[in-house]
Amino acid sequence: MFTTPTLTVSLPAIVANWQTLRARFTGDECAAVVKADAYGLGALEVSHALADAGCHTFFVATLEEAIELRAALPDVRILVFHGVLAGEEFAFAAHRLIPVLNSLPQIERWKPVAAEHVHAVSALHIDTAMGRMGLQVGEFAALMKENPQILEQCRTGLILSHFACAPEVENPLNTEQRRLFQQALALAPEIPASLCNSGGIYLPKENHFQLARPGCSLYGIAPQSNATNPMQQVATWSAPILMTRTLERDQTIGYGATVSASKGTRIATIASGYADGYLRHLTGKAIGYIGDHAVPLIGRVTMDMLCFDVSSVPEALAHDGASITLLGDKDGIRVDDVAEKAGTIGYEILTRIGPRVKRVYVK
Ligand SMILES: Cc1ncc(COP(=O)(O)O)c(C=O)c1O
Repeated sequence: MFTTPTLTVSLPAIVANWQTLRARFTGDECAAVVKADAYGLGALEVSHALADAGCHTFFVATLEEAIELRAALPDVRILVFHGVLAGEEFAFAAHRLIPVLNSLPQIERWKPVAAEHVHAVSALHIDTAMGRMGLQVGEFAALMKENPQILEQCRTGLILSHFACAPEVENPLNTEQRRLFQQALALAPEIPASLCNSGGIYLPKENHFQLARPGCSLYGIAPQSNATNPMQQVATWSAPILMTRTLERDQTIGYGATVSASKGTRIATIASGYADGYLRHLTGKAIGYIGDHAVPLIGRVTMDMLCFDVSSVPEALAHDGASITLLGDKDGIRVDDVAEKAGTIGYEILTRIGPRVKRVYVK
């Protein structure tokens, strides 16, 4: 009924990416990170597709995300990166959710839950370089010395840490993090471990351990910098052309009158803008596509509209009601291309795509 911008999400491409990552991973299990609504693409649809393909373990950031996912998938393992906050203990137990315990207070909070509920299990986060969440290695060693039973008391079934620079294969910090992680694991050698995000899976196999937790590469973002991206593109953002016009005189386009266009230039205005997550930093840099024709963005990105110079495209293709593709599987509009132009990362491009952009799923 409405002509809106659409984000077409290919679930088969996400499943294919998960299979590619799983095939590359030498450990036992490849999980999926579906936090932030599966990086903006729709956590429930993505998780259903991955569960159908055999994925059994899912990571989200918050309890609220986890409860929603649990309602949709009663039988999978769901881990919550933020861990258990004060007052959330009962909900974790009731929904059979697994907190990633990040601090001594979180560990203390979980102990009575694990004592009371036989099915309440947890994961433990060791910080090896990020400095944001997780026990430091010395802190963990001191805790184990003070209470050697602590992991049984918390029913800890996984120990994890997170790479800071995984996409950079040569970065020496990767080796240093692995060394610190192994130091921590030596105190609990029987517990499965997880270190790899998407980038980690493409590091040498001594980094792999038992469980991988890829996120971004499921959604088409390259796992490594400076290497060919083996992932399929997953998301296509298209927006309808609201109107076209041929300039009857030389004039400026858009706010600030920062760009001039000459008489005869054809402008197509489409329904998307920074309110939809099309970043304003793309001004002056981005392109879109009409079919196979690349068209440059012209003038500033505004809240709900973008202008493209469609002078090079036959009028039969660039007209009111046709559409321009802003993100997809073509040169210059792949998620990492758009991110580079905006001076950011693919994660931000995907997670910023707003609710006005209607999600459509290819099953
Ligand atoms: C702790 C943790 N593990 C795994 C991931 C997934 O990482 P990526 O999206 O780089 O694969 C994230 C994402 O931010 C994370 O915070």
